[in-house]
Parts: sequence; C-alpha cells; structure tokens
Amino acid sequence: MCGIVGYIGSSAAVPILVDGLKRLEYRGYDSAGVTIIENGALKTVKCKGRISVLEQKLAGLELLGMIHSGIVDADSGDTSPVVSVGIGHTRWATHGEPSDKNSHPHTSASGRISVVHNGIIENYQEIRRYLKNKGYDFYTETDTEVIPNLIDYYYRGNLEEAVTRAVSRMTGGYALGIIAMNEPDKIVAVRKDSPLIVGVANNGGFIASDVSALLPYTREVYYLDDNELAIMSREDGKVNISFATSDGEPIEKEINRVTWSVAAAEKGGFEHFMLKEIHEQPSAIKDTMTGRVGAGEPVVIDGLNLSENDIKNIEKIFIVACGTAYHAGLVGKSVIEKMTGIPIETDIASEFRYRDPIIPKNTLMIVISQSGETLDTLVALREAKKKGAATLAIANVVGSTITRECDSVIYTWAGPEIAVASTKAYTTQLVALVTIGLYFAQARGTIPSEEAEYIKSEMIKLPEKAQTLLEMKDTLQKFASRTYNHHDMFYLGRGLDYALAMEGALKLKEISYIHTESYAGGELKHGTIALIEDGSVVIAMATQEYLREKMISNIVEVTSRGANVLGFTMKGKDGVSDSRVPGVAREVFEIPWTHSCLAPILAIIPLQLFAYYIAVLRGCDVDKPRNLAKSVTVE
Ligand code: AGP
Repeated sequence: MCGIVGYIGSSAAVPILVDGLKRLEYRGYDSAGVTIIENGALKTVKCKGRISVLEQKLAGLELLGMIHSGIVDADSGDTSPVVSVGIGHTRWATHGEPSDKNSHPHTSASGRISVVHNGIIENYQEIRRYLKNKGYDFYTETDTEVIPNLIDYYYRGNLEEAVTRAVSRMTGGYALGIIAMNEPDKIVAVRKDSPLIVGVANNGGFIASDVSALLPYTREVYYLDDNELAIMSREDGKVNISFATSDGEPIEKEINRVTWSVAAAEKGGFEHFMLKEIHEQPSAIKDTMTGRVGAGEPVVIDGLNLSENDIKNIEKIFIVACGTAYHAGLVGKSVIEKMTGIPIETDIASEFRYRDPIIPKNTLMIVISQSGETLDTLVALREAKKKGAATLAIANVVGSTITRECDSVIYTWAGPEIAVASTKAYTTQLVALVTIGLYFAQARGTIPSEEAEYIKSEMIKLPEKAQTLLEMKDTLQKFASRTYNHHDMFYLGRGLDYALAMEGALKLKEISYIHTESYAGGELKHGTIALIEDGSVVIAMATQEYLREKMISNIVEVTSRGANVLGFTMKGKDGVSDSRVPGVAREVFEIPWTHSCLAPILAIIPLQLFAYYIAVLRGCDVDKPRNLAKSVTVE
C-alpha cells in the first residue's frame, strides 16, 4: 500500500505535495519522491527514507524556496512562474527493495512521462519484455517502471488517450497519477482496485490516495471508481476536471463533501487503525495471492531461490517466529506437513536459539515476521544458517533485516500494519504458508492436482468470504457487550482450531488486558478444567468438521460446570448449518464453508473483531496497548 498525491493550480506545488505525503506516510514510508514540471522539463527528486529525508533533499536543492515564491532573475528582474503542477509518492515496497532508484515517481526512458503508482501490476514482466523489444531500457526492479514507458509508447501528444491504451494492457491493481513534459497544464489519474480521490478547490485540483492528504485544502471531493479516469487541465489559470471510463468514454460524477477530521481520515474513517486493518484483510489476502495462485495455473512464488530439485530433497522444515507470527507458523506446520509429507518442527524463536537445535542436512528454516526486524527471530535465523539450513522468510516489509539475511523471501502484500495487534499480517502469513505448501506439493507431486485445484479455488473465494464476515461485526459487538467485564477467558480448540485459539487468545489479551488462556480441548480434563466455574467464559473453536464431535464433548464438559460458551463453527459444504454446536453452546458464530486448511484464515476475523470490541468497551488504548511495541527489536 503506498500514498500518492498530485496538484495542479495557481499555488506552489511542492509544499502541497510534501504536506500531502506527510499525511499519507502511514500508508508507506520506506521511500518518497516528487516530480514537477519546471521550465518545460520533468524534474524528479526522490530518495530512500522517510519524507523528512525527501524534504531535506528538496530544501538542499533550494527547490522549496524557489517554488514557494518563484525566483527573481538577477538581470531582467523577472519573476519566474511558481512551479504549480506535480505528483508525489510515499512508498511501501512490494517489487524492488527500498532504494533511491526504486522510489517513485518513475519516469519513462524518454523523459516525457512521469507516474506515481499504488498497487501491483501483475503482468509487468510481460510488458517489460515487450517494451524492451521496442527499444526501451529499464533501470529499476519495480513493477511500476513499465507504466510510464507503456504510456510513452502510446503517447502521440494526448496524455489521456495514451493512458487509456496503456491501462488496457495492464492486469493487476493500480491507482495512478500521471504528468507529461509536453502537457504541463494537465494531470491524469486512473484507478483499478486501489483507492484514488480527486479534490477541487479555488486554487486548483488535487489527487490523493485518501482524503487525509486533501483536508487542509478542500473537503469537496470525487471518489474515483474502478476503471475510471480523471483529467485535470488548466486553462487561463482555471483548472477544469473531467471524468471518463478507462477506455475513454466521458462520464459525469457526483461531488462529495468530506465531514471527517484529519485523524479520522488517516484511519479511513475507522475509529482505530486496528479496525481499519481488520477491514483491509479481504484486499490484503487478494494482493498476497496476486501473481501466485490462479485457477488452473501452477502456483508461482517469486523470490523463492529453491529449485524443484532442492524442494524434492528437503528432509525437514523448521518454522520459527514470535507471537502472532508463531501462531501462523503452527497452522503452517499442519498444512504444509499434510500437503508435502515433510516433517516440520515449530518453535518460538527465543526458545529455538537456546536449545542447541539439531539441524540435519537438507533442512529448510522458515522464519515468519511481519516487521522483518524481530531480534529473537533474527537471531534464531542466524543460528539455523550457522548450522547449514537453507532459509526462507515470510515478511511484510520489503528489504527488512530478516529478508536480507534469508536465501529466499515470500512477501505478504498486506501494506503497513500500524496497530500493535497484528491482524492482516496474520491472515496474509497464512495465505503465504498455504501457497508454500501447494508449491512444494506441486514440486514433490504429493497431492493430486484435483485436490490442489480445489484448494486454490477455495483460496480465490477467501476475500469475498472474509468480507461477508466483516459484515457480521454487529454479532461480535453483541457478544463483546455481554462478556467485556470478565477477568478471565478460555479459548479451546483441537488441531488447526487449537492454533487458532492461541491467536484468538493473544488478540484479546494484548489489547483488553483480560487474562486469556488457549488450551487443547482434549487436554482440559488433565488439570485446567479445575479453573472452570459458574459463569466462566469459554470460546470454543469447532470449525474442523472431523474434530467437531470431540469439541462438542469439551463444550459439554465446561457447560456442565457452569461455563458460558461462545462456540465457533463452520457451515457445511452444501451451505447447511451444523446444528450440533448450537445444541450445546449458549452463543454460536458460524463462518462460511471453506477447505479445512483455510478455515483459520476466515475464523480469526470474528475473533479479531470480538477482541477489538471488548477492548473498546473496556476503554483500552486499542492501537497502542500498554507495555507493547509494534516491533520488538530487543531480546
Ligand atoms: C501480535 O499481535 C503482537 N504484536 C506480537 O506478538 C507480534 O506478532 C510479534 O512481536 C512478532 O512480530 P513480527 O511478526 O514483526 O516478527
């Protein structure tokens, strides 16, 4: 997820662009840049690092000063016009690690077209090959660089026409801001899947990824829908805004008035980043599958430096991580073992490194880390490398330390996760782990292709089913209102539901400060059931059909001792509800049918919402819980 801005009008562009980027920095902050049109040429200033680094660079180039007031020519005394058109970008890297050259904006090899992009161009390799054959050179590892060159390839003097032709050849998601050297009085914007807003004010026209960048200048905005284009063109100092479909048909759009505060706008109108990120999961899951999992297509994993032979020779896998990432690893263990037949050992990173692990030959170490900076995980990785393991990271931050020390990396494209409590990182880690399982099974021939196709078909439906669950949030709010004043809660599960119970328990514990305990359902009777008393709250996970009868026995065990049980179950494949859990639990929440190995990806969403609403009811600091940090870079 990145932040893009653009401005054309009668004011100085660069201060507006930089201010807008600062308000979008939560969308991505590993590099930033602007392109302006100055004296008939595109001028780009961009660099790795936060926006403050870009600002210093602009000031150092005396761009900010000149642009603010316009320079006065010492001889003629004339004042050059303020530079008043430009685009800007703050990046969350997906393709190509954070660096000066991989930063946006990207300009065509001809120097004529400059673009800022939020999203992923799925067929960028194919476009890159096509343009190389047409004589275009490329200088970065990004997917985005193909866009200005493709527009340039079609450019015959009308920017919007060239843009419509270029986007017709692109697949994937994009929100684009585009300017052309030969049309200094124009900005074109277009979107598909990634958000883009057009703002209008007396002093000009704006584009931005969300309203937070525009609020200091205007509350009058147009929301671009998918496959829509906006053209902002300046004539006699006035900016006209027109709209079209992405294949060039003119359309009319309604203007909207934004009522949000700036703070609310950064959270997309949600009260907390955590709730926003819970709601971003359908798109994050979809993005993490993009270019990797497709119906009837072999699974592809970019960035995996393991040959088919290497994969066939793997004799053991370790999955090591911390916190939520460790809980994802527990699910991954079960799923990948079943798909590949490779024995897998999971471990908490801070334990792994001190137990002098035995690493046999042909071992693969998978480390999972949202931040890619968790020191316990990094040190465990180094321990495994020292003992000869091949290494693979699942991470959300491109170019983070852990990714740079691994042989291979599969990124979760979840975008920045700001809330301390991990949500979309967990679900996208699970997607990445299932993808690895399918890919390894494909190489080792360990699951029939029909089974693999069936799992992929169910994966492709996950974003839509996740959205369905988000629309049931009122039910979770109701459950929360009946239980938020408890001091203890127990999460029970078996198999994958046990790993899921661990993550559900951690979510509630870390943001509400309620003491939670996750327990294997079958283990309860060996001691912990002594804690169950009248009114105890038990969350029983029973999504795994083959274990449901056993879980029902566990539910009866605790209800017969007075527990108040909230049961989570799953509809049957035929969409029919299973009446058994409702028969024994006081409250039941049912998730839509999916393949059993994918159930945790859906079932965690109501548990996240349940934890969120309880924390809000308890007046906790949801996004920044006490004693915690987003990335634990100490041991
Ligand atoms: C999860 O909600 C916590 N924020 C924490 O357990 C986190 O998952 C853990 O610190 C690992 O972080 P990482 O994924 O960035 O390595």
